[in-house]
Formats: sequence, structure tokens, C-alpha cells
Amino acid sequence: MCGIVGYIGRRSAAPVLLEGLKRLEYRGYDSAGIAVLQGGCFTVVKRKGRVRELERAGNLEGNVGIGHTRWATHGAPSERNAHPHVYGKFAVVHNGILENFAALKEECLQRGEAFASETDSEVIAHFIAHAYHGDFLQAVRDAVARLSGSFAIAVLCSDYPDCMIAVREKSPLIVGTGEKEAMVASDLPAIAAEGMRAYSLADGESALIRADGVVFYDSDCHPIEKNSVSYSCESDAPRLGEYPHFMLKEIAEIPKSVSRTLEEPFPSELDGLLRSTERIYIVACGTAYHSGIAAKYAIETLARVPVEVHIASEFRYSDPILSPHALVLAVSQSGETADTIAAAKLAKELGATVIAVVNVVGSSLTEVADFALYTRAGREISVAATKSFNAQLALLYRFACRLAEAKGRSCDFASLKNLAPLAARTVELSRRIAEWSGDFTRAKCVYFLGRGADYGTALEGSLKLKEISYLPGEGYPAGELKHGSLALVGRDTPVVVLLTQTALAEKTMNAVHEVEARGATVYLVTSLRDYADATAHTLVIPSCVECFSPVLAVIPLQLLAYHTAVSMGRDPDKPRNLAKSVTVE
Ligand code: M6R
Repeated sequence: MCGIVGYIGRRSAAPVLLEGLKRLEYRGYDSAGIAVLQGGCFTVVKRKGRVRELERAGNLEGNVGIGHTRWATHGAPSERNAHPHVYGKFAVVHNGILENFAALKEECLQRGEAFASETDSEVIAHFIAHAYHGDFLQAVRDAVARLSGSFAIAVLCSDYPDCMIAVREKSPLIVGTGEKEAMVASDLPAIAAEGMRAYSLADGESALIRADGVVFYDSDCHPIEKNSVSYSCESDAPRLGEYPHFMLKEIAEIPKSVSRTLEEPFPSELDGLLRSTERIYIVACGTAYHSGIAAKYAIETLARVPVEVHIASEFRYSDPILSPHALVLAVSQSGETADTIAAAKLAKELGATVIAVVNVVGSSLTEVADFALYTRAGREISVAATKSFNAQLALLYRFACRLAEAKGRSCDFASLKNLAPLAARTVELSRRIAEWSGDFTRAKCVYFLGRGADYGTALEGSLKLKEISYLPGEGYPAGELKHGSLALVGRDTPVVVLLTQTALAEKTMNAVHEVEARGATVYLVTSLRDYADATAHTLVIPSCVECFSPVLAVIPLQLLAYHTAVSMGRDPDKPRNLAKSVTVE
């Protein structure tokens, strides 16, 4: 989703901005632009498409500038709608969505102001210009007071070539400081790559940024001291190495992600909390939501504590009823997903304890939650989440074991340790899944079926295939198909069936027979050796404690999606219309 970079300091701004924007490319975007201030004038370059298109404009003179990668919300992806937006003496880049933009734009139009774009963001530059009477900071404050919705902005003023202003409201923004230089960015990698100290703005906070120092302000405009956030060198962009795509590299990293996540110390202060927990709520979006669906079975099986799994964007507007002694797990790879953060905030307001299950240290979700448990998947670049899903499962399984223990139930912790080597074997075995992908490229629709813990895997397999190959598909509970969707099944609908739960195996096989009888070809992923010959296309994966099997069974499905997408000429790392970090609701 949109990325912001701003620079002020001793170096030429444009190369730093371009490098910073490249480091944010993984977030997903459709156009990009930079504005550099020199001699009281802005030079603005915008392009539809990739950041590298901006480089062709040559080096722009000036030591202060702002840049942006845009993921279209209001107005089509185009050069015209790309940021920065310049109006009068001001240049602005914006992440987020202004909910009252129509009313604000109407006000501007009434004043006779012309707009150069169809974006909501351009009104910010207009309102700052309107509020400006010589005091840059005051003008930004007055304009911001009129905005509602989510925003992170960086602003330049041609009367103030020695400073930049940044404001955050419900959309992440980091300020970096170095030797006679400073930056602002929507995400750490742009700042980490420059080796700067990083400061995360909280909602309502702003910063007046100069090359020789930054003044931070709270939401009441009082100057405040802030502590810098620590980050590891992993915040720097990983390289592809021998791999053609990050998605394939990240699937190969699953065993390491699982083992590192399981090695992470589990805070002992949680034990008391777990003893008193009577119900778990998991809130998340997309792949993280599927990890919740799959983990529900492990938590309920091992700890016998009921689990409700909610899509965060639904939960936040559902006027939820939380039981007393509820524990909420907010699961997110990025820790920046707007809906998950809002769901976590709401759960806290309702009196629940919130644990963030998150992959990015210092992300916004960790600031909202009471506790943070970290998955250690490492940076994930591909928009399609893979290793982070397996790491979330590993962490949630570990959580299930600790909860079981806190509830006085016996739990085989040693079985967790086997998951990483078994994942390595599954990655190896799954190489032959590439042979299946040819049949999928011609499919009209693809079904993924499973029961119990396998249902979560089916959902995730389907999402993966949809988002990167653009093939329609559905993840379905195997027993539910005959209540409607079976009408769609035929020769051109391959059906992937997950079979890892002994107690449910015969029931799932009923679905296999039902779809085969309608002409569909079944592709079976099973850990149950008795079913090794059940269909012509069967992949036998290693077996583990059955409620943990999604962490292994999803691997062939991730690879199936990858190979299908690549065979269809899609870029699996940058699927159309999607962003890595979904910071708007
Ligand atoms: O960063 P998060 O885990 O909160 O992201 C949630 C979803 O946006 C994310 O999982 C999305 O569904 C992925 N593109 C799936 O591959």
C-alpha cells in the first residue's frame, strides 16, 4: 500500500528518495512520484508504474524532498493522481483515506480553487495553503484539524526550505535522524537502510524535521521527548539470491521460520493470564485469519478452551460481545493492517486483554496490544504471505500447548520441535507439485476441500491460488459442498482435497467420491498413508500431531499456487490490485 519517503540534509535528496521508495516497493503500488525543493521552487516528477521510471528524469537538484508510491483508492492509477500534490507553496504526500474529502473538496471548489487530480489527498495541500499566513507549522495544524479518516502526511513549504513536517493519524509514520540529515518514511526499511535512528510517531503526533534536529509534538501540539525504536538489520531489504521470485525463496525459508519462532522465549508473565482465560477470540485478516481458523482446532483440542475466529473488518463493526476473562489474539504479519489494529483497540476498550501475534518488531499493533508475541519469519517481501503463515501457526500451536499446561492438561511440547524438520521434508517432497500446475492453468474454478483443521488449510490454499494466478476458487468444508457449490463442480474444476485428520478421513473421502462422480479430477494432499493410493494424483506429506498438520499441509498448496501463477505468466510477488501492507480499511 502507499509508501512515503522524505529527506532533508547534506546530500542530494532525489537519490535518497528513490532508494527509499525502492525499499518500500514490496508494499505494492501503481504509480510513484517525487518533489524536490530548490531555490524556492518545486521540481516534481511523477510516473504511472515503477519507481525506476522516475530515475529516467535524471538527477534533480535540491537537498530536501518528498516521495511517494501510490496504491489507488480515490482516482485511477495515473500520473495525474500520483503524489506529491503541489498547491501554492506546498507539496504533500499522503497515506490513508480522508473520509470527509468530498465535503472538503466542495469547500475548496466554492473558494474557486482548481484541482489537478481526482485524489482525496490533494485537498490536504489546498487546506494547508488556505490556512497559511506565514507560519508553516500552524498552517499544517489548522489544516489537519479539518481532516477525518486515516492519514500519514509529509509536507514541504517553499518558504521554509530548511524543514519538513510530518503528521500521523491512524497510518504509520517513522522519523529518522542521522548526521546532519533526517528522514521520514511510512516504514522502517527506508530509514534502516540509511542507518538512521528511528522514531515511530503515535496517532495525533507530529514532527518538525530539520537536518540538524527534530522536534516532536503530541496531539495537543506540546513538544515531547520520544525514545528511538530498535530494529534489526533484517529491516533492510532481503535479496533474491538464487531464486527467481521472493515467494519461492520465502517458501524455502519456512523450516527456518518455524524453528526460529518456536525458539522464541514465551513470556512467563502470561501464565497467570492463561490460567484465568475462559475464551479466546482471534481477530485477523486474509492469511492471518486463516492461521486463526487452522489454529482454533489445535487450541480447542489441546487446551479445551473455546476459540472464536473473527475477520477483523467484521469484528470491529459488529458491536461484539466479549465474555469476561476473554483473551484476544490479534494476528498480523505486518502489524500495520488497519482493520486488525482497530479490532484490537476495540477489544481493549471492551476490557479484554490483547496479545499481538506479529512478525514486525515495533509495528503499530504492538503499541496497541498489552503483550506482543513475535513470529520470527524474517522480512516477507512477496505480497502473497507464505512463511509468515507457517510461523503464525507455529506460534499459535505453542500458545495452545502453554494454555493447555496452564489449564492442567498434559501436552507433548516435544512434538512441536519436530515441526521444522518435517516442514523441510515437506518442502522437498512438494517439488513434484509443479507437475500438477499444468492442469490448473486451464481450470474454470478450483475447489479446496478439508474438514476440521484441514478446513483452514483449504481456505489458505484457495486464497493463495486466487491472489497470484487470478483463477477463481473456493476453500470449502468438505461436508458442505453438497449443500450448494457441488452444482459448479465438473471436468473443468480441479478439486484439491486435504486429508490429515484420521477421525474425519472417511467423511472427507465421501466428498472425493462426490466430486469424482461429477467428472472432477481430485488432487489429494494427505499425511495418512492408508490413502496413498486413493486417487491418481496424491501427494503424501509427513505426518505429525494431527492438530498441527496445517503447518505442513499448506506447503504443497503454496507451491501449487506459485507454479500455477508462474506458468500463467503472472508475477507472484506483485499480484495486481494487491498491497503487502493494508493500512486503509
Ligand atoms: O499483515 P497482515 O498479516 O495483517 O495482512 C493481512 C492480509 O492483508 C494478508 O494476509 C493478505 O491476505 C495476503 N496478501 C495474503 O497472501
